[in-house]
Amino acid sequence: SARRKLVAGNWKMHGSRSSTDDLLALLVAGLDGLSCDVLVCPPYPYLAQAHTVLQGTGVVLGAQNLSEHVEGAFTGEVAPSMLRDVGCTHVLVGHSERRSLYGESDAIVAAKFVAAQAAGLVPVLCVGETLAEREAGLTQGVVDRQLDAVLQVAGVSAMRQAVVAYEPVWAIGTGRTASPAQAQAVHAGIRAVLAARDPEVAAGVRILYGGSVKPQGAEELFRQPDIDGGLVGGAALVAGDFLAICRVA
Ligand code: G3H
Repeated sequence: SARRKLVAGNWKMHGSRSSTDDLLALLVAGLDGLSCDVLVCPPYPYLAQAHTVLQGTGVVLGAQNLSEHVEGAFTGEVAPSMLRDVGCTHVLVGHSERRSLYGESDAIVAAKFVAAQAAGLVPVLCVGETLAEREAGLTQGVVDRQLDAVLQVAGVSAMRQAVVAYEPVWAIGTGRTASPAQAQAVHAGIRAVLAARDPEVAAGVRILYGGSVKPQGAEELFRQPDIDGGLVGGAALVAGDFLAICRVA
């Protein structure tokens, strides 16, 4: 396809100033010959530092979350414009940990998506079902509902400036990856939902797979026609593993 692959690293709540410098230095040293786009999402306190290191390398920077508000009395929150200000071009929206641990509803996720784009950030919209939902045959329904909540408020053309990440909750941090066929089926379903609204937008949007992506197995996932890269958690904290995943993308 014409879609360039994207490999994104979500560091979650890991690291320190020094480990951030170390990991980024190793990453930058290993970029030669990669044909995919690379995004890293460190914790908030290290974004400015990461931006300094990554400037001019081609690796782009994202945050893991943002406020849906522009500014104001929202103690502990981070505004979209602040993320832009420290060098972010991307931001994760609706990661399953935000949804399940911090009560982010579909409506909040949609508001964050809109707020990100209003500030010029590219949202990486995360969707995915729990194990119970999969076993109940609800996978596509859940993913469609999560996607639809955003499409209703943002419109399908907003997906021109967005990325989708399919992350089955049961595969996150569990060592249990979705099979390439399982992932491909959901990715195709997501693209079909978009295509029903706008075929051209659907053909252009990148849909990443996330959930225990490791160097082993990544290549086969990325060979699937509707898998356009990965959203990598644990393996993104190990430069050699993350680069190995980038090399097969
Ligand atoms: O955002 C990343 C995902 O939650 C995947 O995490 O690769 O550690 O399973 P994981």
